[in-house]
Amino acid sequence: MSKNFYITTPIYYPSGNPHMGHAYSSIVADVFARFKRLEGYDVHFLTGTDEHGLKIQREAEKKNKDVKIFCDELSEKFKKLTKTLNLSNNDFIRTTESRHHESVKAIWNRLLESGDIYLSKYAGWYSVSDEAYYTEDEIIQDGDKKISKTSGSVVDWFEEESYFFKLSAWQDKLLNHYDKNPEFISPKSRYNEIYQFVKGGLNDLSVSRTSFKWGIPVPNDDKHIIYVWLDALTNYISALNFPNTDDPLYKKFWPANIHIIGKDILRFHSVYWPAFLMAAKLPLPLKVFGHGWILSDEKKMSKSLGNILDPLEIIDKYGIDQLRYYLLKEVSLGNDGNVSMENLKNCINNDLANNFGNLCQRVFSFIEKNCEGKLPKPSNLAVEDINLINNLVKKVPDLINDMNRQDLNNYIKQVVEFSFEANKYVNDLQPWALKKTDLNRMNTILFSIVLQIKNISILLSPIIPISSNKILDILNLKNEDRLINSISDIDLFDHDKPFQKTSILFKKIDDDN
Ligand code: ME8
Ligand code: MG
Repeated sequence: MSKNFYITTPIYYPSGNPHMGHAYSSIVADVFARFKRLEGYDVHFLTGTDEHGLKIQREAEKKNKDVKIFCDELSEKFKKLTKTLNLSNNDFIRTTESRHHESVKAIWNRLLESGDIYLSKYAGWYSVSDEAYYTEDEIIQDGDKKISKTSGSVVDWFEEESYFFKLSAWQDKLLNHYDKNPEFISPKSRYNEIYQFVKGGLNDLSVSRTSFKWGIPVPNDDKHIIYVWLDALTNYISALNFPNTDDPLYKKFWPANIHIIGKDILRFHSVYWPAFLMAAKLPLPLKVFGHGWILSDEKKMSKSLGNILDPLEIIDKYGIDQLRYYLLKEVSLGNDGNVSMENLKNCINNDLANNFGNLCQRVFSFIEKNCEGKLPKPSNLAVEDINLINNLVKKVPDLINDMNRQDLNNYIKQVVEFSFEANKYVNDLQPWALKKTDLNRMNTILFSIVLQIKNISILLSPIIPISSNKILDILNLKNEDRLINSISDIDLFDHDKPFQKTSILFKKIDDDN
């Protein structure tokens, strides 16, 4: 089995400020990327910005800015976001880069050569902000405007000469692919939704625009600009140096193992993208995972509703691991999830500050004061020590399974349980009380609990990388021992080297902050 793993996030549309949905989509992908590395995979994790289209062109014009310079600024903001979110991406692609232009032109030419692209005329209701045409029954009258029923954005009547992609010809092949690969679209509810949609019949897709200039010109017909979704989707192979299919990066990582996306862009990824790839005679990604929406007060976050939780503000105030932990634990991946400040505070306080953080703090400071900061060697392990350690070790295959099925919530739930169990273990066994009566037993308990803290930290490291590594640093654990395989190893500690100094790991959030 190849130990390579290619995972992508959607490339951000950089108009406006980064919001919680952007943060969520990226953090989810980052956790899976980090977990695969923990499993020993060579991971390639991609994100970036999706910069073409009429909306961006208009925004730049309104501000009297050169559109490329305008995009540089927008893209920079999102590049910063990847740092703030502590994403472990290996690359950040911009659709305005020449490597991407070359790649999109090449895929266009492949589609043209295979006979899947033809020239015709398009007329219909077009939404600039959605970059999509709507049919008559997909729109409604709203005052003096017409708007899309689904997105609510304003539509205008557009007529233009356009190239079309023969999507209709790919219906059976798509259905066949879904049949043979029941996990191609996940979770199951999204699979069913797309299956029904494709079964209902597909229309050919308009894949060029003549109404604006900001995009990648059609090869040999540059009054046409390539449809922004054909452009954007191709980023996933541009980043691997397509069209050079002999390139080591392409050979190693294509097809992608998983595209992580929000449910709003599922159709593009699970219908259009595989059809484009089949027509271009390129392999299909193995999985498209559509997560749900982040809601606030049960509604989609929006400026006009005033229910926006700003990820940057929260990170600034409480920390990135805190935001990551909260979103990943409390939002059920695949479903819509409601977020609120109240829940965030409770979650951080209960799980991190009062539970895991407190456990580490108590144990580390006791060792510092009573054992010269060095991890004592154990004598014979008692049954409760063995149980504590083995319960976790035995669960590892299940946990790996959970992550590979994107059952992130179950994974976290189990890891948190280990940390509650570990707290109960020290509370029950009271190593502090044994200092004068049974030093050997005290040392064995301390060793067992530190081993357990190490293992929990390794398991938490994809979720809260900074804090987990801080703990593993305190324990002087080598980097190469911070892997899933190191969990069953009880012999990785240096008993002669004092622990590093401890500082507060997770600050408790008070009511007034
Ligand atoms: O869609 N909750 O970019 P984008 C959860 N450029 N996820 C949300 C969300 C919310 N409230 N709002 C947005 C694009 N997202 C395209 C992608 S890929 C070839 C091109 C998610 O900036 C959304 O589903 O509008 C998507 O996964 C990501 O944020 C970026 O959205
Ligand atoms: Mg969007």
